[in-house]
Amino acid sequence: MVKREWTLREVADLIQKSKRIVVLAGAGISVSSGVPDFRSANGIYKMVEDLECCESLPDPQCIFDIEYFLDDPKPFYEVARKILFSSTGASPLPSKAHAFIASLEREKRLLRVYTQNIDGLEFAAGVSKNSLRYCHGSMERARCVSKSCKSKKLTRSQLEAALKVEDIPSCARCGGTIKPDITFFGEKLVDNIGKTLTGDKQKVDLLIVMGTSLQVSPMDTILQYFPSDVPQILINKTHVQPRKTVSEGFDIELLGNADAIVEAVEQLISGEGTFEAKDAQLGHQFAPNIFLFEGADENSVRDSINKHGGGDVYVYPPPAITCDGCGKGIDNMEGGLMCNTCFGLDTCSLCSSFRSKHLKTYPTHKFVLIKEEVGV
Ligand code: OAD
Repeated sequence: MVKREWTLREVADLIQKSKRIVVLAGAGISVSSGVPDFRSANGIYKMVEDLECCESLPDPQCIFDIEYFLDDPKPFYEVARKILFSSTGASPLPSKAHAFIASLEREKRLLRVYTQNIDGLEFAAGVSKNSLRYCHGSMERARCVSKSCKSKKLTRSQLEAALKVEDIPSCARCGGTIKPDITFFGEKLVDNIGKTLTGDKQKVDLLIVMGTSLQVSPMDTILQYFPSDVPQILINKTHVQPRKTVSEGFDIELLGNADAIVEAVEQLISGEGTFEAKDAQLGHQFAPNIFLFEGADENSVRDSINKHGGGDVYVYPPPAITCDGCGKGIDNMEGGLMCNTCFGLDTCSLCSSFRSKHLKTYPTHKFVLIKEEVGV
C-alpha cells in the first residue's frame, strides 16, 4: 500500500467500511482482563524472574520451553495459575478489546482472528470457533504427555479444577504429567492456520494487529502472507516495528490502551467523538500517521521514531489548552494563538499585551492560529 497521510475521520471510515477484517491478536488485549502480557515491565517474564520456583531457569522464556516443561512442569503451572485465574480466584473476563472483535463478527465484518493468546477470552467474548485460530494452541484441552497413554483429553474446566487441588495436574490413568494443548518453544506450530491463511489472504480487506510485540512466530512473519495493498492498522500500547523483511510497516498506528482505543474508534464510527487530534510534535513528515490515545507509551514512540523514522504523531482526544496569559481555557480554539517556533506558548485572542511582552523579549516567537496547527 502506498504510504500516505491519514486523518482520524478516514481511519474511522476505513474500519467502518471494511467487510472482511482479519485481526492478529496478542497478549496486550488481555492485560486489562488481569492477564499479564509477556514482555512488558510487569509481564510474565518479569514475574518469572521473581518466582522462587523459577530460579533454576536460565532464561524466563524457558518457562514455555517443552524440554524444561518435561523436565519440571512446576514453574509452568505456577505461572499458568496466574494466567487462568485472577487474584480473586475467578476466571478473567473479556476486555473491551475482545468485545470489539466479537462485535465485528456480529456485524458480519470479521473474516478471522489469529490469536497468540491461550486465555480463550476471544471465545468468551463471543467470537465463534469458526472465526478463531489459536496460533499457539489454547488451554481449552489438555492431555497426558505420555504418547502411549490412551486417556481422554481434559476440558478446560477439568484442568482448572485439577489445578486447584494439585501442584502439577497428573493423568488419572497413568499418573503422567498433564500438558495443555498449547505450543511450547521447541514444538511444531499448530497446522490449522496455514489452510485458512491461504484463503483469507484472497479475501481480506483490512488487517488490524492488536496487542502484540511481533517478536514470536508466527506473528513476526504472518504479515507477509497478506497482500501489501491491504491497509494495516496497529492498535498497541507501544510502537512496534514489523520485521523490515516482511513488511513496510503499518499504514496507521493507534497507540495506547487497546480498550481506550476501541472505545474511541466506536465513538468515532458512531459520530460521537471529535475528529480532532493535537499534533504532538514528535513526528516526521512521512507516513504512517501515529495517533496517541490514553495509556500510550509516548517515550517508546519518541525512541522508535528517532531510530526508524515514523509519521506525524497526534494526540487523541486533543488535550484542553489553557491561555498562558490569563490562565483561562481556550475552549473554542477559534481565535486562540500559539507560538509555532517554541510550541510552549498558547494564548487566547484577548491576551495581546501578553504576546507583545514576550515578543519584545524574544523576537523569535511567531504566533499563529492554534486551529491551523491542529490535525483534523
Ligand atoms: P508480548 O508481551 O511480547 O507483547 C505484548 C504487547 O502488547 C506489547 O507490545 C505491549 O506494549 C502491548 N500492550 C500491553 N498492554 C497493552 C494494553 N493494555 N493495550 C494495548 N497494548 C498493550 O506478547 P505477544 O506479542 O502476544 O509464546 O507475545 C506472544 C508470545 O510470547 C506468547 O504466545 C509466548 C511468548 O513468548 C510462547 O509461549 C510460544
